[in-house]
Amino acid sequence: MKDFLAIADYTPEEIQAILDQAVELKKEWSEKGNSPLFKNKVLAMIFQKPSLRTRVSFDMAMRHMGGDALYLSPAEIGLGKRESIADVARVVSGYVDVIMARVFDHQHVLELAKWADIPVINGLSDYNHPCQASADALTIQENLGNLKNLNVTYIGDGNNVSVSLMHICAKLGANFTIANPEGYGMDQEAVALGEKFAQESGSSIRQLTDPVEAVQGAQVIYTDTWVSMGQDEEGAKRKAVFPPYQVNQKLLEGADKDAIVLHCLPAHRGEEITDEVADGPNSRLFPQAHNRLHAQKAILVKLLT
Ligand code: CP
Ligand code: NVA
Repeated sequence: MKDFLAIADYTPEEIQAILDQAVELKKEWSEKGNSPLFKNKVLAMIFQKPSLRTRVSFDMAMRHMGGDALYLSPAEIGLGKRESIADVARVVSGYVDVIMARVFDHQHVLELAKWADIPVINGLSDYNHPCQASADALTIQENLGNLKNLNVTYIGDGNNVSVSLMHICAKLGANFTIANPEGYGMDQEAVALGEKFAQESGSSIRQLTDPVEAVQGAQVIYTDTWVSMGQDEEGAKRKAVFPPYQVNQKLLEGADKDAIVLHCLPAHRGEEITDEVADGPNSRLFPQAHNRLHAQKAILVKLLT
């Protein structure tokens, strides 16, 4: 596999190998620093949307391992506007060793990968967020052992983050439940794909509308923004529909006592999650964010070595 565009493209064994690599690199980093595996390698980071975690974790992943990264802002590249995606892909392929791109339309990252001679990593699209899911699985693994037979519940919008989380759960044998308002569910083609993976791993996928039912027996509770980047015009409408899907202390009381709470961040405190939960004993929000660094390193090792 040349690229890292979707969890769905990788086998359970390959995903587990990336997670194992991340564990090893994290340990190595804390003990003596990583070896310079990416010496003379450069990552181009193409962003059509803002970012904190994805940008900084990829940049630092390259630096920790002896390489370098270039940030290419929306204004600079004008992907598909100033220049065609096919031309950008072919030009950048001659300068650097790997591309990470955050795009609005998932087709644009597929197009980039089609034309690039070098690996392309999906740093989030409107469809999915596979780098995030890798860090999520790493965090779940660290807290609860492997994902097999765990119950992972996602509360809120059936968005890009939920799709990759569903796929990584289904690939690794965790039961995935989503509770979303009517009309805000996940892409049904992505669900069909998830169901196939779940069947192969012996796990299940449930799509509910009741958050209280969804958290029963959950060991992991996950949420994300109600208004993703690019959906600003729908903001007011969404904020009127989603409040029953807030992850708060009352909802948490219906889950396993030791359930961990995850959020890809940025969090909109007081909307999809309360301060009490985000900063409470069940929260793993910051270790999860920090795990982006280690997951990113493992993905880069997979593609560059
Ligand atoms: N979770 C995540 O991808 O964060 P950024 O948007 O800050 O990169
Ligand atoms: N669903 C969010 C995730 C941000 C990391 C968005 O697309 O804006």
